[in-house]
Amino acid sequence: MPAAVPPYLYKTAVFLYTASMKIALTGIKPTGILHIGNYFGAIQPALKLAEEYDARYFIADYHALNIVKDPKKLRSNALEVAAGWLASGLDPNKVVFYRQSSVPETFELATILMAFTSKGLMNRAHAYKAAVQENLEKNDDPDAGVNMGLFTYPALMAADILLFDSDVVPVGQDQTQHVEMAADIAQAVNFNYKKDLLKIPRALIQEHVAVIPGLDGQKMSKSYGNTIPLFASEKQLHKLIMRVVTNSQMVDEPKDPDSSQIYQLYKLFADAEEQAVLAERYRAGGMGWGEAKEELFRVVNRKLTPLRSRFEEIMADAEKLEAILAEGAGKARSIAKETMRRLRDAIGIR
Ligand code: TRP
Repeated sequence: MPAAVPPYLYKTAVFLYTASMKIALTGIKPTGILHIGNYFGAIQPALKLAEEYDARYFIADYHALNIVKDPKKLRSNALEVAAGWLASGLDPNKVVFYRQSSVPETFELATILMAFTSKGLMNRAHAYKAAVQENLEKNDDPDAGVNMGLFTYPALMAADILLFDSDVVPVGQDQTQHVEMAADIAQAVNFNYKKDLLKIPRALIQEHVAVIPGLDGQKMSKSYGNTIPLFASEKQLHKLIMRVVTNSQMVDEPKDPDSSQIYQLYKLFADAEEQAVLAERYRAGGMGWGEAKEELFRVVNRKLTPLRSRFEEIMADAEKLEAILAEGAGKARSIAKETMRRLRDAIGIR
């Protein structure tokens, strides 16, 4: 699509030539429960992107195996995260939505890519380097606790991406290096066979994605233990919101909305008018933090209540959830098989 196409024509073009829509793909690591940082930082932007791209989103369960060795947990995490994305509005008729483990072509491609992935490239991967660094600091063996799954993680991720001819890979900043590695590996393959066998992907860092403050004011993240789970019960949600850290200003003191976590969170859930009203109440003084938190709870709960009930509904019908994922896997495999046919033929296997 030429860059100069005006937006209104672009929409029409997308509508008329769906087959030429660019492909967006991303993997979702099923570790733990989803929180509102995931919702605003990853889920919502990915769903928005799916309106303009041919989207393929999958649950990266074999990536999770590097860490999660408990079978019950691995299985339930994958299902919960899948249900979470569906409850958040992912339409499986619009997005090819599947479990990585249901597409065995991924692992065949990963094997091919290994032959084009230098060990030096893997040595430079951030996650591996961080693990080694941590060991060195503890005076431990540099590779203690590092399995080959972690070491070759970027190569498996490259297979996920390259298998589906992805144009863009929406990811957080921490994953851009992996996407660049996928592009490097694809180039090495194409160079060797003197053919554009694999499409060169690029990372798409979504702008305008707010940093979501956690309960303690740091960025909301599972590793900081400061999250608000997306599907917390009403009671749990209330309890957590009452725990948002505030300063020690008194009730009558005027307060600054922009430096308040409560207000930052409020903005994500309230409409423009509500935001203006609450900002005014902050500035006027006379409103204590407890009251601000109650306001926050009201808008968060209003938004999350329907999501929570959809989530519970989906989780209660395991058969249907499996059927949705199986249908997605079917679509994904038919694309994957094409890619593998092209590759096997080009590399001289059989
Ligand atoms: N590594 C990603 C993460 O930790 C998950 C992932 C696996 C992924 N395979 C992918 C992301 C392919 C994008 C494309 O979040």
